[in-house]
Amino acid sequence: MHEPQQPIHPSTAVVALGRPDPTEDAPLNPPITLSSTFVGAGAPEPGQRMYARMSNPTWDPLEEAVGALEGAELPGLSYASGMAAVAAVLELVPVGGTVAVPSTSYNGTIGLARRLAQAGRFVLREIDPTDLDATRMALSGAALVWLESPTNPLLEVLDLPALIAAAGEAGALVAVDNTFSTPLRQRPLALGADLVVHSATKFIAGHSDVLLGLVVAADAELRSRLHTDRTLRGAIPGPFECWLALRGLRTLALRLDRAEETAGVLAGRLSTAPGLRRVRYPGLPTDPGHELARAQLAGFGAMISIELASAERADAFVHALGLITPATSLGGVESLAERRRRQPSEPVQVPESLVRLSIGIEHVDDLWADIAQALSAAN
Ligand SMILES: Cc1ncc(COP(=O)(O)O)c(C=O)c1O
Repeated sequence: MHEPQQPIHPSTAVVALGRPDPTEDAPLNPPITLSSTFVGAGAPEPGQRMYARMSNPTWDPLEEAVGALEGAELPGLSYASGMAAVAAVLELVPVGGTVAVPSTSYNGTIGLARRLAQAGRFVLREIDPTDLDATRMALSGAALVWLESPTNPLLEVLDLPALIAAAGEAGALVAVDNTFSTPLRQRPLALGADLVVHSATKFIAGHSDVLLGLVVAADAELRSRLHTDRTLRGAIPGPFECWLALRGLRTLALRLDRAEETAGVLAGRLSTAPGLRRVRYPGLPTDPGHELARAQLAGFGAMISIELASAERADAFVHALGLITPATSLGGVESLAERRRRQPSEPVQVPESLVRLSIGIEHVDDLWADIAQALSAAN
């Protein structure tokens, strides 16, 4: 096979990247290597496999594919879960250093940052990154800034170019959690971010059957630090998880296109549905993040958050759903709904009555019929 003549589209890349060389009799898909150790007796050569906490051939194709999709020159690094990836990046902050994390970050991220700060590991400055001036001031002296956009579950769209530039002026590293957008909709490294983090559990793997995290670093020194740290801390993924995630990645473009189209239709219908206080979806022209989303994102995503009249009504809505499953998590082929504040760890900025909808790939009319009947039952 010859190299393609021109840069390939991301929707082709998800299919083509991370495959074995197409030599005679080679498998089309990378095999799963189930081995904790690799044969060898001498001093290891650079890059030589030795022990499966250091490297595993089944990680490589996924890490290469996601690194390339994010526009990095180096492969990504896979982790046992999204939170293991988040923890690995927070670990880059020097002891006693300062890290800026939005209060409305995914609850695990802000929860871990608070816990580490309480333990004296670093100083945490909680920021509201929608307030650019306040954020600029809070960045002074920070070693790392955490950004997530759109946010989970408020779906706020951050001004990433402005925030990344402000972090650059402050000399801080910038990590962007790109779980909601995936590299098919947003590539933070191209905007100047230093690190991209994914809960690959969500859209990348896409079938709600695996937990996995990924970090993509813009430069070799950062990647090398993360790699050594991963080896020593041991928060590595299993080979089967990486294989499943790569298999899921093959259909990411198709799944996302379909789910996003459906989410756009549903958000439009929800915006005129009775009994709702608010519909949050960056694709709605009335959404506060719409203009930024249009400028920054190649698509508005498959997540919608709705606010009902009260927490009780929100619970009644979720219970009345039939096709859409009440469950936490997101980004799978099946639609899920959750009143987020049922989780005690959810940030207080998230309204009690907010239900997060993760739109899957079912037919839009079936999803709308389910939502409409559940709204009637709840109101
Ligand atoms: C935006 C975001 N980041 C990180 C995580 C953590 O990922 P995981 O559940 O794979 O550990 C999640 C999980 O919901 C998430 O939504």
